Order: sequence, then structure tokens, then C-alpha cells
Amino acid sequence: MEKIVIANHKMHLTYKEIIDYLNQINDLNVIFFPSSIYIPYFIQKNLKTGIQNIYINDQGNYTGEISARQAKSIGISYALIGHAERRHLFNESNELINQKVCEAIKNNLQVILCVGEEQDQDYKSVIKKQLEIGLKNINAPVIIAYEPFWAIGNSTIPSIHRIEEVITYIKSLLNKDIKVVYGGSVSINNIKQLNAIKNLDGFIVGIESLDINKLKLIREVTN
Ligand code: PGA
Repeated sequence: MEKIVIANHKMHLTYKEIIDYLNQINDLNVIFFPSSIYIPYFIQKNLKTGIQNIYINDQGNYTGEISARQAKSIGISYALIGHAERRHLFNESNELINQKVCEAIKNNLQVILCVGEEQDQDYKSVIKKQLEIGLKNINAPVIIAYEPFWAIGNSTIPSIHRIEEVITYIKSLLNKDIKVVYGGSVSINNIKQLNAIKNLDGFIVGIESLDINKLKLIREVTN
């Protein structure tokens, strides 16, 4: 089955760069997470589009925030929740992440919940807690993204064996049919190797996805 490919643009690309990027896409089976201000351009092109973060309430006086309800109303289908950068730079706790997951599901967004350990942490206990609290009271199917913090924006990735082991662990905690993707320095140089991992359902590509030609190559390899 074709793997899931997710492009996480984070806070990159200017307006001109985004227009240029979009002009090079006709039809590409990738879920795009651009900066929020560029989302309408992706939706107009009928591309699968997600939002990098949402707020915990539907609406109200929360300057600078975007709700799941608003996201759904413009045609967004996916919400990325609990990304390592949100956990670390914005101090998002597992409890807050759970509120966001609930809010996204209530508004019919497909959640991609990110989990992962820091260097020198025991991945089992960290991920177990992230899943237990993050998915409290959730029955809807979510996609899990395994993104070890130390492998993000880096050239070092965990060993293939380790990724396989963590994916198996996550599936054993939830259920074997749940989709689990890997993120953290996925690139055109390591994608063939990563694509050989049997129990993996796809990838999140950060920096490398900013180059549309590299993203297309990654999509080709993972078909
Ligand atoms: P990276 O980012 O590919 O640049 O490591 C992945 C992510 O943070 O989702």
C-alpha cells in the first residue's frame, strides 16, 4: 500500500517562494502543512492540507490563535498535534495536547499526534505516557508520528532497527492497525533505507520538503 507522506513546512518560505513552490505541483499525494497564512493556496489547488497547531477552544477572545472549527470551515482536513517543537519551545504538556486532540476530533479533523523521546531518555516510558495522556478519552483513529526530538533538523537518524522496534512498541500499545509514520531528518539520502522498514506507514518530511523536487523524489521512492 502507498505510504503516507507529510510535508511539514514549519515557519519557512515567503509568499513568493510558496507561489513558486505551488506552481511546480500539479497533483502530488502529499499532506502539506504550510504556515497557516498560506493554507488557502494549498486548498485552492485541491492539495491535502493540514494545520500545524490548533487552539483548545472553538472560538473566542484568543488573539493570535486558530481553532479546529475555523480550520475545518476553510477545508483543512488534518491537524498536527504535539510536535516536538511545540512541546519544547512552547512548553506544551501531554494534558494540553490531549485537549487539542479532543478539539480536533470534535471538529472532524484527522489528527496526527507526534510522540518521541529526547536523547538519553528511555523511549518506552516517555512514549507510553505521551500516548496514555495524549489520547485520553479518544476513540477515533489517529495517525501517530514517531519523531525523536534529537533526530529533528539534524543529519542523524536512529538506526533502522531502533525505528522498527519503536514502531512495533507503539502498535503494541494501541493496536496493530493504527498508522505510524516516522519523522526526523528524512531526506533523499536516507529515504530508500527508511522505506524498507516493514511496519512503517509513512514519513514526515521537514526541511527537505521545502525543496519541491526533493519532496517529489521522496514521494516516488515511497510509492
Ligand atoms: P526535519 O523535520 O525533517 O527537518 O527533521 C521533521 C519534523 O519536525 O516534522
